[in-house]
Amino acid sequence: MKKLGRNDLCWCGSGKKYKHCHEAFDEKLMEAADAGYQIPDHDMIKTPEQIEGIRESCKINVAVLDYVAEHIKAGVTTEEIDQWVYNETTRMGGIPAPLGYEGFPKSVCTSINDQVCHGIPSEDVVLKDGDIINVDVSTIYHGYYADSSRMFCIGNVSPEHKKLVNVVKECVELGLEQVKPWGFMGDMAEAVQKHAEENGYSVVREIGGHGVGIEFHEDPWVGYIGQRGTGMMFAPGMMFTIEPMINEGTEEVFVDGDDDWSVYTKDGKASAQWEIQVLVTEDGHEVLSW
Ligand code: MF3
Ligand code: CO
Repeated sequence: MKKLGRNDLCWCGSGKKYKHCHEAFDEKLMEAADAGYQIPDHDMIKTPEQIEGIRESCKINVAVLDYVAEHIKAGVTTEEIDQWVYNETTRMGGIPAPLGYEGFPKSVCTSINDQVCHGIPSEDVVLKDGDIINVDVSTIYHGYYADSSRMFCIGNVSPEHKKLVNVVKECVELGLEQVKPWGFMGDMAEAVQKHAEENGYSVVREIGGHGVGIEFHEDPWVGYIGQRGTGMMFAPGMMFTIEPMINEGTEEVFVDGDDDWSVYTKDGKASAQWEIQVLVTEDGHEVLSW
């Protein structure tokens, strides 16, 4: 970290003197770094102005997912979901972040049953009674990024799959409870992993969450396997996703060689995921998108 004078302007862009702004914050982090803990870089700390911009993007993301929630049912194709997401996002002035992202061809990811994530909407995929589906929506608004996803149960879902969907939601809620300044990523990860494994499920290790807001995917990488008191320290202004992918059977996954995107469980058993976008605040956390 660059050494600032106490009367210099703070690095965060607040326009305040360093001594009245992030000086104590930096001292706290430096102490932690000296003690061997992993600490966030300054560029992982969002300014109040950025947070306000991201908040607006998140409002669109939430509204789009609310729209999906109201309309999704058996008989709908994932192509139709893609059109809803494109139309609602652009109607509110946003851009669907997935569209064209690293060549992704659609506006939303739709992942059904044994699809773990990054499923590509298609007119050939018709939702049927008993399916579980993750709809992962991401928005760009005035350059700011939002990212969240929800599970939907289509018609009569088996008790086993309903339980999977509910337990993964609980995993996210338990992980979220651990997000507070000067706590650790490992506190969150451990809470997610423990609840998943106590219910007999496995946590996908190869794919995780991420910082988000200024870019679609920023540092830090966010995993859901971990131990309390380890991993990166949380500091106010950090923003990231909690989006564990949790499998009924093996944690092992593979990418479909035909489309190079869709990720499936190796054993063909079901997978579920919920995703929220979280800000670390001065006294805890705030969920910006869900
Ligand atoms: N929305 C996904 C996430 O949670 C990323 C999708 S990338 C895409 O990080 F290209 F597939 F859209
Ligand atoms: Co994400």
